[in-house]
Amino acid sequence: MPARLFVPRFRIDECLAEIRECLEKGWTGIGYKTLMFEAAFKDYAGLPHAHFLNSNTSGLHLAFECLKRRLGWADGDEVITTPLTFVSTNHVILHAGLTPVFADVDDYLCLDPRSVAQRITPRTRAVIFVGMGGNVGQYAAIRSLCSTHGLSLVLDAAHMAGTRVGGRQVGHEADACVFSFQAVKNLPTADSGMVCFANPADDERARKLSWLGINRDTYSRTQEKGTYRWRYTVEDVGFKYNGNSIMAAIGLVQLRYLDEDNDRRREIVSWYHANLAGDPRIRMVEMAPDCEPSRHLMQVEVADRDEVMVRLNADGIYPGVHYHDNTNYPMYAHAAGTCPRAARASASIISLPLHLELSRADVDTVSRCLKAAVR
Ligand SMILES: Cc1ncc(COP(=O)(O)O)c(C=O)c1O
Repeated sequence: MPARLFVPRFRIDECLAEIRECLEKGWTGIGYKTLMFEAAFKDYAGLPHAHFLNSNTSGLHLAFECLKRRLGWADGDEVITTPLTFVSTNHVILHAGLTPVFADVDDYLCLDPRSVAQRITPRTRAVIFVGMGGNVGQYAAIRSLCSTHGLSLVLDAAHMAGTRVGGRQVGHEADACVFSFQAVKNLPTADSGMVCFANPADDERARKLSWLGINRDTYSRTQEKGTYRWRYTVEDVGFKYNGNSIMAAIGLVQLRYLDEDNDRRREIVSWYHANLAGDPRIRMVEMAPDCEPSRHLMQVEVADRDEVMVRLNADGIYPGVHYHDNTNYPMYAHAAGTCPRAARASASIISLPLHLELSRADVDTVSRCLKAAVR
């Protein structure tokens, strides 16, 4: 099955057994399964807090809301971000009343610390780093830049479930680290995500904000003894961002296989590397040497990308582009031309098929077709 870019693998019987339990108990919303998944993920990642949500996008928005409130940021304060990302990364900055300021990327397609340093102003409050394809890029340099300048750091870890640095899940160093468990991610559910805050006050506030600002969710009220279980109060204008037990049920199963699946992804990538190495027409995006990447993506850069895509499509192969330079979108066009490396990447990157159903022969076919397609 070489044709498709992503094919998520679900352990169907195990997922159905977990889901069945929710249905039999009649509890599909926030509840014991979402709590179990939070505990299991915290245990896996070794992170101090984990709050399960309906998406990574919600988690990123909550990250900025909570940091902004605790640290007293003003409307319009600046967050340095990348133009080479899924648009969620940038929309959430605006959702929180902050201003995205675009910095350029490096050859890892992650934020370049030199460009970030040039964008810091007296109104800069935070940097959001996207671990492209599971890569950490120059994340360590960005971290030290943040600590030197007193900036908060949000890690958009949508691609990074299972990415390790120094043997442990990346994310410990960020003020908030946000994972995606959307349909085709390394830990696919259907749609869900996890926000992991460093600060307990942020975690506590996010739990209320994700449930419309209500101080106690329905499940915790059922667990309390005594009368007045129906009483709650509303402390804030929150959002309907909570994760549910059906997604958590799938997530619990998928988490058990995450490391095994990521091992297999790395093996598939090693086949691509063996096939494509030494071809000067194809630049493979490298992983930073100090990380064990989740390998969400296998990205290459080529000239005449659009023509190459059309030729691959003619061979029945349908790769992707991660991502289009966000400053090409009318929403962010005011920053067009400010990030030349991202603009070049946007016109030259291809994400080759990468999923667990690929065989060595499939990878050989894709590699052969790619070599025939590039000029
Ligand atoms: C880099 C990046 N950030 C954020 C998101 C948003 O994730 P979700 O769909 O879970 O909201 C995605 C998902 O495609 C992504 O790739």
